[in-house]
Amino acid sequence: MQHERVLVLDFGGQYNQLIARRVRDLNVYCDLKPCDMTVEEIRSYDPIGIIFTGGPNSVYDPASPHVPEAIFSLGIPVLGICYGCQLIAYTLGGKVEHAPTSEYGKREVRFGKASPLSVGVPERSICWMSHTDRVTEVPAGFEVLATTESCPAAVFGCAEKNIYGIQFHPEVVHSEYGNLLLKNFLFSVCKAKGDWTMKNFVAEQIGRLREKIGDKKVLCAMSGGVDSAVAATLIHRAVGSQLTCVFVDHGLLRKYEAEEVMQVFRDGLGMNLVKADAGERFLEKLAGVSDPETKRKIIGAEFIKVFEAEAKQIGAVDFLVQGTIYPDVIESGKGKSAVIKSHHNVGGLPSVVDFQEIIEPLRDLFKDEVRRVGTELGLPDSVVRRQPFPGPGLAVRIMGEITREKLETLRDADFIFRDEVAKAGLDGQIWQYFAVLTSCKTVGVMGDFRTYENVIALRAVTSVDAMTADWARIPYEVLERVSNRIANEVPHANRIVYDITGKPPATIEWE
Ligand code: XMP
Repeated sequence: MQHERVLVLDFGGQYNQLIARRVRDLNVYCDLKPCDMTVEEIRSYDPIGIIFTGGPNSVYDPASPHVPEAIFSLGIPVLGICYGCQLIAYTLGGKVEHAPTSEYGKREVRFGKASPLSVGVPERSICWMSHTDRVTEVPAGFEVLATTESCPAAVFGCAEKNIYGIQFHPEVVHSEYGNLLLKNFLFSVCKAKGDWTMKNFVAEQIGRLREKIGDKKVLCAMSGGVDSAVAATLIHRAVGSQLTCVFVDHGLLRKYEAEEVMQVFRDGLGMNLVKADAGERFLEKLAGVSDPETKRKIIGAEFIKVFEAEAKQIGAVDFLVQGTIYPDVIESGKGKSAVIKSHHNVGGLPSVVDFQEIIEPLRDLFKDEVRRVGTELGLPDSVVRRQPFPGPGLAVRIMGEITREKLETLRDADFIFRDEVAKAGLDGQIWQYFAVLTSCKTVGVMGDFRTYENVIALRAVTSVDAMTADWARIPYEVLERVSNRIANEVPHANRIVYDITGKPPATIEWE
C-alpha cells in the first residue's frame, strides 16, 4: 500500500530534518528531497502537498536555488517556510527585500484574516524568526494573514490555489502555534488522512519483509545499539529462525550490557543469537597500545575478523541486515540510495560475508521513529532508550593503555554514575552520561593511609545531534552521591572530577 505522502524540498536550512520529523509526528509520511527536483519528478512522486524549507540564500542571488513557476500549477498545495516563503513571493511576482538587520529569535506575530491555515491560532502569539530578507509585497491574488513588527507579510496565502508562506519557523518549539499551522496545512489544506503510524509501519513492513525474504536466510550484526536491535527484531518478527544474529562481545562494553543483550534477544525473544566472546582477543591486541587512533583501528579491524569467523561458520546467507536509518540516507546521497554506513564496526562487514543483498528495514525512519517501532515490537526501554555508545566502547573512555583492571574500575564507576542519574530522574534529559578513566593518578588519603590511585572523570552532556554539546548542569547533590559512592565502592579510584567543557572545544568522548 502506498501511503499518502508530502514532499519536503530541501533548500539547505538548518531545521530541514526537523520539518520532516514534525510532519511525520502528525502521522503524515514525508520525504526530504533535494530542491532541484524537476516538475516531472514531482508529478510522478505524487505528493498530497509540497513544503519548501528555509535556506541560507537570498532569492535575488542568481546562484541561489529557485523553483520553476510550473510547480505552482500542478494543483498540489504548497507551503513555503522562511526562504521557502520568499521563493513563493519572488516566483509569483511579489516583492522580497533585504532588511537592514537580521531578525533572530522570539517575536510577537499578529494574525488578522481567517484562513484554512490559521484556524485556531489566536490573534497574538510568539513565533521564532531567523532571517534577513523579508516579503514586502505579496503576489497578486494573495492575502496577508499575519504580520510582525518587521515583517509586513509574516504569513500570507491564497486559499483558492492552496499556496501559503510563513516567514518564521513553525517547526521550532518556540513558535507557540507552529505545530497547529503545520497540522492545518496537512489536514485542512492538503486533506491528509494521517495514515503514518508506527503500528501501520510494523504491520506493513513485516508483510513486505516476508514477501522479500521468502524462505531465505538473513544475517545481522547485533551491537546492542538501538538501530541494529530494532532492525533485527523486526526481521525476526517477520521470518523467525531464518534470521541469525551475531553479537561480537569485544569485552569493552559497559557493566551487564552483554548479559542484557543475551537476555532480551536470545532468552526473551528466542532469536538465533550467536555471541562471540572475544574480550581476551581484543585485550591482547590492545596490550601496550596507547594512541587513540591506533586503538580505534585495532578494534575496528579485529571486530571484522571476529565477525568473519562467525559468518564463515554460518555459511552463505541471502541477506545481510544494515541498520541504516533515514538521516544516513539523506546525508549520504541526497535521497539516493545509501552507501554502507561508515561506522567502523559495520562498515567492513559486507566484504567478509557471503551474501546476495543488503536489507535495510529502517531506511525510511528517523531515530525517534526507530525507537517507537522498538516499543511497538515490545522491546524494553533499556534497549530503545539506550544512550549513544561508541563502537570502540570503553576503549575510548580509558586514556592510554587498556588493562583488565582499568576496565573493571571504569565499569564500576560508570555503573554508579548511571544508576544515580537514573535514580534522580535525569536520564531522559541528558544526551550521554558516562565515566572516564583518566589514567592520571593522584595522592589521596583513606583511613590513615596514603593512596595513589586513579582520577575518574564524569562526563554528561546535553545535545540534539552530537555535533555540538553542552555540559549538563547536574545538581550538586547528585554529583555528591556519585562521588561518595565511587570513592567508597570502587577500588583503585580516589578522586572524582566533573567535566565542564562543551563541544566545541572538547569532543563528547575523551578519545
Ligand atoms: P565525539 O566524541 O566526536 O562523539 O564528540 C560524537 C558522538 O559519536 C559517538 N562516537 C562514536 N560512535 N563509533 C561510534 O559508533 C565511534 O568510533 C565513535 N566515537 C564517538 C560519541 O559517543 C558521541 O555520541
